[in-house]
Amino acid sequence: ESSTEIDVSAIAPGQAIKGMFRKQPVFIRNLTPAEVEAANKVDVASLRDPETLKQRTKEGKENWLITMGVCTHLGCVPLGAGEGEVKGEFGGYFCPCHGSSYDTAARIRKGPAPKNLQVPEYAFTSDTIVKIG
Ligand code: FES
Repeated sequence: ESSTEIDVSAIAPGQAIKGMFRKQPVFIRNLTPAEVEAANKVDVASLRDPETLKQRTKEGKENWLITMGVCTHLGCVPLGAGEGEVKGEFGGYFCPCHGSSYDTAARIRKGPAPKNLQVPEYAFTSDTIVKIG
């Protein structure tokens, strides 16, 4: 199946962009140190879908959060990648369809979605190029 290469060099800390991968939106986010810290402060045992930020990112690149842009409730595209400050109450993404809020590790924190935003298979092929799929 096809993969997608995305140049992340222009994504500043605190910004997220939307790409496409296998006809679905994919979010590439450059987390600020404060966003990384916020994600790491959460008690993982309290989460609906317990995962650490570390488990959801690559070693040494914990600031690069790469997830599908597909709400795990009924598949809407959450806001927060390219809509300015529409990140919801947990600072990550917000799905307006039925009000699911995701945190700075794109983990589900509130609302009907059952799972975290899915992390696709990916690898950095250089410091600035990520190959998804
Ligand atoms: Fe996102 Fe329902 S599809 S909350």
